Amino acid sequence: MSNKKFHLSEEGTDTSIELPVLSSTLGQDVIDIARVPETGCFTFDPGFGATASCESAITFIDGDKGVLLHRGYPIEQLAANSDFLETCYLLINGELPSDSEKEAFEQTIKSHNNVESAVEQFMSGFSQGSHPMAMLCAVVAAMSATYNDTTDVSNADDRMLTVNRLIAKMPILAAMCHRHFSGLPYVSTNNDLSYAENFLNMMFGTPGAKSTVSPVLTKAMDLIFLLHADHEQNASTSTVRLSGSSGANPYACIASGIAALWGPAHGGANQAVLEMLEEIGDEKHIDEFILRAKDKEDGFRLMGFGHRVYKNFDPRAKVMKESCDEVLAELGLEHDPLLKIAKRLEQIALEDEYFVEKKLYPNVDFYSGIIMKAIGISPEMFTVIFATGRTVGWISHWNEMLSNPYRIGRPRQRYTGYAQRDYPA
Ligand code: ACO
Repeated sequence: MSNKKFHLSEEGTDTSIELPVLSSTLGQDVIDIARVPETGCFTFDPGFGATASCESAITFIDGDKGVLLHRGYPIEQLAANSDFLETCYLLINGELPSDSEKEAFEQTIKSHNNVESAVEQFMSGFSQGSHPMAMLCAVVAAMSATYNDTTDVSNADDRMLTVNRLIAKMPILAAMCHRHFSGLPYVSTNNDLSYAENFLNMMFGTPGAKSTVSPVLTKAMDLIFLLHADHEQNASTSTVRLSGSSGANPYACIASGIAALWGPAHGGANQAVLEMLEEIGDEKHIDEFILRAKDKEDGFRLMGFGHRVYKNFDPRAKVMKESCDEVLAELGLEHDPLLKIAKRLEQIALEDEYFVEKKLYPNVDFYSGIIMKAIGISPEMFTVIFATGRTVGWISHWNEMLSNPYRIGRPRQRYTGYAQRDYPA
């Protein structure tokens, strides 16, 4: 609790209530508004631009300074020195693992490196070409049936089993979505490979053949997972928390997060970036699209630009951009026409007054879309890969919420409909 207090008073009356301020370890303190209903009003904050929905010790973002910390560690340092699985351990447990803890964690994840035949059968019910996000959302929800007897959400061991299962199985499910979407047979998981290489081998390998995934692409894939691992109370994480607050099955909660992630204003932006680049088609059309993005009447937005929280730069985008250059060089794709449009668009938008004034910088989705396209991943899979990396964030927040006292999330509303009226006689 901070020493600061606010008083909310109604003009012309004596009504006044004291609103305590709760201090944060970093960033803005929060005004505790629990007493506001005593005024006869609720607070109104559509889009939650001014509302902290929970307490959390997992991730901190300073959007003005372009800072992202996981358990206190800057994302740039994690990207340079850690890997995805170690970052998963950190997010869940709060501390980096020792060497032996890391080894044990990797073994635990490998021990869950399979999917039940029921899940495979469920997947086979989708027609080829079904959107991979639709399949992922459904199969993760279906896992709530498979694991219902071992998901007592009030039991810490059951919760940890769920965490480990989800981290292990998401890349398998994601790769299955891709193979099914493309009409290809599944490639089995291989415990001799790292997490990221195994994923790329399941995506692009040949059943029964040795992995031929290059170390540069393995590193880039691991980085994509790591950079997407968590981002505090974004739309999908808040959705998982809200679903989980009713005590719902965690696999169903994660499916709700996948659904929220799918939209183009959130994780779906990486697919939308590629579609936009294809629509632009040629560098000579860029100016026309920039004009459309600035035109309020048009509704078109430059996909991969802007962020609700980052108003300086997205630190993940900075790291992703470096990886992007590395991958393009490795694959000899520096002169790919679509990628040339992307580079030119980035340059123009960074200099254009409209984008500079509104602080619309390229976000993580802009560069991740380009890398994934270069690796040969189809745009429909981009958001699935985002979901695969983000699952650890979702489940860490879910676990944090359930490990502490919590109430069901239940926002209020400003009602603007009819007053009560009688059914016509
Ligand atoms: N292109 C053109 N103009 C934009 C863009 C854009 N990409 N983004 C925002 N603006 C403009 C808005 O029109 C608005 O202008 P105004 O003040 O004149 O009305 C102003 O910038 C502020 O935009 P808001 O929509 O109020 O910002 P908000 O914080 O609600 O939205 C969002 C953030 C959704 C990311 C938005 O910038 C956007 O739609 N970007 C494109 C989609 C995208 O890349 N999403 C990925 C987000 S990152 C992630 O999920 C990992």
